[in-house]
Amino acid sequence: MLIGTPLAANATRVMLLGAGELGKEVIIALQRLGVETIAVDRYPNAPGQQVAHRAHVIEMTDGAALRALIEREQPAIIVPEIEAIATDMLLQIEADGLAEVIPTARAAQLTMNREGIRRLAAEELGLPTSRYAFVDSLEQLRVAAAEIGFPCFVKPVMSSSGKGQSRVHEAAELERAWQHALDAGRVRQARLIVEEQIAFDYEITLLTVRSLGVYGDTETHYCAPIGHRQVHGDYVESWQPQLMSETAFARAQDIAGRITQALGGRGIFGVELFVRGDAVWFSEVSPRPHDTGLVTLASQRLSEFELHARAILGLPVDVEMTSPAASAVIYGQLDAVGIGYAGVDEALRIPGTDIRLFGKPESHARRRMGVALARAADVELARQRARDAAARVRPVAP
Ligand SMILES: Nc1ncnc2c1ncn2[C@@H]1O[C@H](COP(=O)(O)OP(=O)(O)OP(=O)(O)O)[C@@H](O)[C@H]1O
Ligand SMILES: [Mg+2]
Repeated sequence: MLIGTPLAANATRVMLLGAGELGKEVIIALQRLGVETIAVDRYPNAPGQQVAHRAHVIEMTDGAALRALIEREQPAIIVPEIEAIATDMLLQIEADGLAEVIPTARAAQLTMNREGIRRLAAEELGLPTSRYAFVDSLEQLRVAAAEIGFPCFVKPVMSSSGKGQSRVHEAAELERAWQHALDAGRVRQARLIVEEQIAFDYEITLLTVRSLGVYGDTETHYCAPIGHRQVHGDYVESWQPQLMSETAFARAQDIAGRITQALGGRGIFGVELFVRGDAVWFSEVSPRPHDTGLVTLASQRLSEFELHARAILGLPVDVEMTSPAASAVIYGQLDAVGIGYAGVDEALRIPGTDIRLFGKPESHARRRMGVALARAADVELARQRARDAAARVRPVAP
């Protein structure tokens, strides 16, 4: 593919729908390849908007507003960075040939709803998953949970980052889990998934890249497995590589290969898997860079963001890992607009470290405002360095 000159008539224009910290890094990677970038988000001065050629603020769940903006900006490629988008309109836009959606509009639609992706994975592809049921009422939830057993997980079908999710230990907790899911669901829709708890040894993200091969065919590449730790459904630290048995890694690749092939298109996918011994379960997949993959900014020659940018443009990729590394999240800790960050100098005195501050205009106690990265000779030391560096960064009130 020919890459034009940004802001010229032949520019290669890419529009990001969602411009958070992951989108910001994708935009930087695209800019380095001479792409004209347009960052769209729900609020002004989102991280990615601060580095894009142009920024727009719209409600991306509003199909008409989305289409109007796309017709005005005429991007060649649309890259969804979040799930809450009018995906019906993306299907329409793709069908009308207005722009290419990454990886495909259907993938964006299937993965925004836990039901779409779970039924594809478990029922169509026969991939191993936790036992599950979908329910629309508290009564149905009681019946399903009794069948699946305790502990179980209750989640809104449309939600991410652990929002509205509960781990339920006994029947008496179901009513609270139901209410919690309803309060946090992205749409006022009472549909939940109940999942059997998988007693895993560890969980991984297997970054999987679908890129264009020399003969115009699609190649699938697998990054080294990323281990991570989640608290309340939100990631707090990640590392690469996660040690796995050969059998488990082969099974993980097989699952990732099949689910990404079913979703199709080009780009990076974050395939979330649970592992116990040699057994591997599919959990979910993001058809875009994954938050736990921030570690690749330190561990790989090409980060997940650069891999995504290359794959999107039809360019060759290389998933080589260059060093064990880790990432640790820096939280806002305060509820305020325009906070400061003290201690960045102290953090960077730790060998092998790097810091990303996302520049989010508004901080919340549990909002991810930055990340500490560290390389080391082994994962244990890298994790310790990343955690220490993150702890040295202190949010201060404006
Ligand atoms: N069935 C399960 N068995 C065991 N642990 C689970 C199960 N479902 C969820 N978890 C735990 O909760 C975490 C978050 O779950 P899940 O990925 O489904 O939620 P999410 O809201 O989509 O999170 P995110 O968007 O951050 O990936 C998982 O990474 C895992 O640690
Ligand atoms: Mg998840």
